[in-house]
Amino acid sequence: MTIISIVHTRGWILKGLMLATVGFVSMVHAQAAADDALVAHGKAVAIAGDCAACHTDNKATPFAGGRPIGSPLGNIFASNITPSKTNGIGNYTEEQFAAALRRGVDARGRHLYPAMPYTAYAGISDEDMHAMYVYFMQAVPPVDNAVPPTKLSFPYSMRWTMAIWNALYLKKGTVEGSSPDSKEIDRGRYLVDTLGHCSSCHTPRNLLMAERSGKYLGGANVDGWIAPNITSDPVSGIGGWSAEEIAAYLKNGHVNGKGQAGGGMAEAVEQSLRYMPDSDLHAIGVYLKSVPAIRVASDEKPAYEYAGGTPLPSITKLEPQRPDVTRDPNFAKDASSTDGSVLYSGACASCHQPSGKGTGDQYFPSLSHNRAVGMSTSDNLVMAILHGIDREGADMHVLMPAFDRDLNDAQIAAVANYVSQHFGNPGVVTTTAQVAQIRAGGPTPLLLRLTPYLLAAAAIVVLLIVWLIFRRKKSRRVRS
Ligand code: HEC
Ligand code: HEC
Ligand code: HEC
Repeated sequence: MTIISIVHTRGWILKGLMLATVGFVSMVHAQAAADDALVAHGKAVAIAGDCAACHTDNKATPFAGGRPIGSPLGNIFASNITPSKTNGIGNYTEEQFAAALRRGVDARGRHLYPAMPYTAYAGISDEDMHAMYVYFMQAVPPVDNAVPPTKLSFPYSMRWTMAIWNALYLKKGTVEGSSPDSKEIDRGRYLVDTLGHCSSCHTPRNLLMAERSGKYLGGANVDGWIAPNITSDPVSGIGGWSAEEIAAYLKNGHVNGKGQAGGGMAEAVEQSLRYMPDSDLHAIGVYLKSVPAIRVASDEKPAYEYAGGTPLPSITKLEPQRPDVTRDPNFAKDASSTDGSVLYSGACASCHQPSGKGTGDQYFPSLSHNRAVGMSTSDNLVMAILHGIDREGADMHVLMPAFDRDLNDAQIAAVANYVSQHFGNPGVVTTTAQVAQIRAGGPTPLLLRLTPYLLAAAAIVVLLIVWLIFRRKKSRRVRS
């Protein structure tokens, strides 16, 4: 071998080594890019699934759990789902993670309460599930936050009873539309039914607290709010909204002339919907407009079309408008004032204006052409007055103060009646008793009202069985 050929060979070896290194480095890069893409995909799934709304109690430690989820049966504490090995899901395998989400069974085999919306998540596709698992395990910082145990009253404290409930109501979902490239309407259905679990608030529940499939998205009570009918019905539902308006509402939390998002909807906007791609929000709009219409016979026109009926009292009678938009702490000092017009001018007019038409830019919205004020019951109007609205949307932050401590039930009823008559649905009357019930969290579900009787009936059945066994034994003894 000549020197030249040795040099040549060495050159080739070096070149080969260099190429291999470049290849390896780019492979590592490609792998890292693929991992990043997977984590980003998983994060998008977790956002669309709105996991943060329930699993975050303290914004500084996302997903660290501890938030009490109010259920009619008592508070259920959302788990720590950070990858903490001591307090979170750090020891969950992907199979266990999928079982918790799709079947409502945790890593110890314990049944979860359906406050965790696994009936909806049952339809999450394998691809989305895998990406979400990788996201939680690799990208969410572990937080060792111990969550208080959930203690529901007997008999709901027996978690195994959920197995019976699941046998009745847990259906394995479809995964149609799980890819962003699916047909728009399928994608919308997947986002609404599976990830967005919209029906968990918008569909009314039966005696056993399962969603009534015949009333799908037909409107329901949640924590004192009414999650309205969002079927395609043009009168009772949102058939009169365009898909673009629905998408804008989901993104920003408000649409002029239609309504604003308060309560649980404000949270869904803040934690989930405002981060979703416009194409997904549009797909939700398109799908909702295809949902079979549910009409409430007594509804005459869409809630957002109401604009009052009773003429306003002469403006001169109203107290002068305050220059700033904060509440005047003295306006309701005289607790005896239950004059709706006095209360409105003191507590509301600085923002919503004496005319009720809101400000020019509608940052303080009109109370006419406003779903909450035009609905056939005033629950959302009362809830907005009691608890205010504090919401971060894609476009801006909105804030309406809560009046629960400034106004008593009679005063809230008075101001609500003033608002309904002059700006909304004049046929709606709010009573003091109704405000008291809404303040206490809304009507008690039938299951809870029936529980004492159900327990008594169960006790009688047990006693009867014991008595029958005893009698059979006795008669056998007598015969022998
Ligand atoms: C509407 C509220 C709500 C939403 C939304 C929600 N969860 Fe939960 N989740 C809960 C509650 C409450 C529990 C505890 C239930 C119990 O104790 O029976 C829970 C339990 C869990 C558990 C079981 C952990 C354990 O070991 O205790 C996992 C895992 C979980 N959730 C993951 C998720 C993920 C991932 C998402 C989003 C895709 C999500 N959850 C969305 C309320 C929610
Ligand atoms: C935690 C409960 C909850 C969840 C989950 C929820 N909503 Fe809502 N939604 C509400 C409440 C409550 C309102 C009424 C808000 C108000 O008037 O201030 C509402 C209002 C709406 C409205 C406006 C209807 C109208 O006529 O004013 C639309 C549209 C809507 N929701 C769509 C959705 C979609 C789509 C999803 C799922 C991605 C969803 N919601 C999930 C509780 C919820
Ligand atoms: C400091 C200003 C401010 C005051 C005072 C105020 N509001 Fe509001 N109000 C707002 C803002 C901001 C919104 C939400 C706008 C949005 O979502 O885009 C709102 C929303 C509402 C809504 C719609 C709620 C829903 O869920 O759709 C109603 C109804 C309402 N206000 C009634 C009242 C009444 C009645 C009073 C007096 C008791 C009052 N507001 C006092 C600023 C105010």
